[in-house]
This record gives sequence, C-alpha cells and structure tokens, in this order.
Amino acid sequence: MPKPSQPGRHFLQIPGPTNVPDRVLRAIAAPTIDHRGQEFARLAKEVLAGLQRVIQTTGPVVVYPSSGTGAWEASLVNTLSPGDRVLMFETGHFATLWKGMAERLGLVVDFVPGDWRRGVDPAVVNAKLVADRERTIKAVCVVHNETSTGVTSRIPEIREAMNRADHPALLLADTISSLGSIEYQHEAWGVDVTVGCSQKGLMLPPGLGLNAISPKALAAAKTARYPCAYWDWAPMLQDNLNGFFPYTPATNLLYGLREAIALLEAEGLVRVFARHRRHGEATRRAVRAWGLDIVCANPAEYSPSLTAILVPEGHDADAVRKVILERFNMSLGAGLGKLKGKVFRIGHLGDFNDLSLAGTLCGVEMGLGLAGVPIQKGGVQAALDYLAKNNDQ
Ligand SMILES: Cc1ncc(COP(=O)(O)O)c(C=O)c1O
Repeated sequence: MPKPSQPGRHFLQIPGPTNVPDRVLRAIAAPTIDHRGQEFARLAKEVLAGLQRVIQTTGPVVVYPSSGTGAWEASLVNTLSPGDRVLMFETGHFATLWKGMAERLGLVVDFVPGDWRRGVDPAVVNAKLVADRERTIKAVCVVHNETSTGVTSRIPEIREAMNRADHPALLLADTISSLGSIEYQHEAWGVDVTVGCSQKGLMLPPGLGLNAISPKALAAAKTARYPCAYWDWAPMLQDNLNGFFPYTPATNLLYGLREAIALLEAEGLVRVFARHRRHGEATRRAVRAWGLDIVCANPAEYSPSLTAILVPEGHDADAVRKVILERFNMSLGAGLGKLKGKVFRIGHLGDFNDLSLAGTLCGVEMGLGLAGVPIQKGGVQAALDYLAKNNDQ
C-alpha cells in the first residue's frame, strides 16, 4: 500500500479503470434525477446518440448498469441459442474468460489455441469458416484489444476473411479496452455486436456495459432461444426510443458519459486515436532502450492503449509493481493468467498526455532500478526524444 500521507495524486496507470477527468467527476457528482422524467429522457437520448458517434454506427446502442462482463453475456444470449457453435481465439486472458463464459452458457466453442503474443489470424478465420460446410458456426468472437497482452486483432481483415468465406456467422467484437482510444468503426467494419464498457477509453468509473447492434444481429435476436430478461435487448430498445430504460439506469454515470463524449469530440476522435498511437510508440521506445521485451510479437498488432512488458527470468513483475506503488504512488497492471509474475502492464489510455506519460515512464524506470531488474538507463529519454520529434499529432 502507498503510505497514507503520500503527497501528490495517485497515478492510476493500469489499463483500466483509467483516470477519470475532473470534469467527468464533477458531472457525476450532480444530484440524481427522476429516471422517468423528461430531463432524464433528454440525457439518455443525448448519450445514446453520442455513443453512436463514438462507436461509429447509425444502429442502436444499448447501455446496461453493468461491468464489461455483463455486456459480453448480453452479446451472446441475445443472438445465440443453447448448443450453437461459436469460433473463439486464445489471444490472452480476456479471450479465455469470454470462452469460459460461452461454455458455461452451453455454447459449443471451437477455441483456436494461441501463444498470447499475437492477435487473431484472419487466414485461420477464413479456413475455419470455409471448412464449416454445414454452416454450423453461428458467431465469430474476437477481442479487439487484448488487455492482458497489449495485442490488437485486425477486425477489418477478419471481416474480410469472413466475407471471402461467404459465411453467415455473426461477428462479435470486444472493444472493452479499445473504444475511445483505438480506431474502431462498428458499421464500416461490418461488426454485428460491439461489446464495450465505461472504465477505459471512455474515461468513466466502472459501471456501464454496452452493446452496439447491427441489423443482422437484431434479426438474429428474433430467433435466438436463450432465456434472457435483464440482458434482453428488446425491452431496452423499446424504452430507449423515448429516452427511458426498462429498469433503473445508472443515472449519474450517464451524466459522466455525456461529459466524456463531449471531451472526446472536442479533441476529435481522429486526434484521440493518433494521441494513443503516439504514446504507445513512445512507451515501446522506452522499453527497448531499457533492454526489455514486450509481449506483442507482431508490430502490426501493437496496442496503442497499453504495453505489457516482460521482466527477465528470475525477476518478479509483481515485486516491481509493489516497489513502484510504495515509492511512487503509481499502480501498474499485473500479469494475468499464465503471465502472472512475468509481466507488468502500463496503461497509456484515456485522460492521458505527454506529461502523464513522462511521469509514468520515470516511475517505471526508477522502480525497475529499485527492484534490482537489470536495465539500461535512457528509456525515459528515448520516449521524450520520440515525442519531441513527433509533435504534430
Ligand atoms: C478486453 C476485456 N474484456 C473484458 C473485460 C471484462 O470487463 P469487466 O471487468 O468490466 O467485467 C475486460 C476487463 O478488463 C477486458 O479488458
């Protein structure tokens, strides 16, 4: 634990939940209003329209008072039926958790093994779907940005591979750690259900889960046979038309969401994505200068929102994180699943600028030294040099 008297603000540099901007915090602190009144209806319509712009869709978006896991479940139970076959990929810890959920629900998962260092291979998607002559695969589920590894999957290429196979499966994409930080276009990329949540690129506290829904997914929901009530899209979509919800919404988080969308749009989504790419590259320059490796093995799949760093054999990534928390009041992400103790993760997403990155990397460089991990100095400088040379974004 950091000392209770530690001065300065906590650096929350896990890859979500992320730092919540003051403007969003202040908005959330406003008095709660009647969720069946007209003021609320205006708020709901405003945020649902704003989310459509962020997710880049003209179709409906539903928002649950839930974490991201709830939004995962909603995407499956609204579109599928017990016993359906789904294609999933072992890109990391979160893809494995989603697969576990699918199995617990009684779906039959074709889980393509992976080494946690690469994203989904579009060629494998194509081969699996071409081989499925009976068209038994009902959905392809992909985690866009694997938060446990800092590896992205190339959704447009995956969609293209599905189209080439001329296969009717739905495409479900988890954008939990990419929405609002990494380029993503629900409609243009042909995604059927986008799964998202509040606590990462949207710069809110945890508590909102969301699904963006394509016309094809809406049609699938009409014949899907999973019993669902809380997650059921139909009453949500019906009530949302008038700005209402079938149950009590997370009113104050929706105030925050309105502010967060305004912040993203004031900066401009194109600039937001460029900022994250630039901070991702600067972070990797620092890691390389330290002489350490990152988990992501394919430069085309580097994550702009987080970097997972491998500590050398014989060192414990959790000990590094502990020193950094105690000495510098900064939280870094732990290694998850089979990467526990081997990896720490730097979140560089959300409400984050050059100085936040510089502070974060200073803390990491000093902490690695204090923890006795052999590194070359100069990582921070390498990152600053890159930022200075690429200052036009
Ligand atoms: C990619 C991804 N998917 C799913 C989840 C699960 O979301 P939650 O913990 O909000 O339920 C997370 C959480 O970090 C995630 O990063």
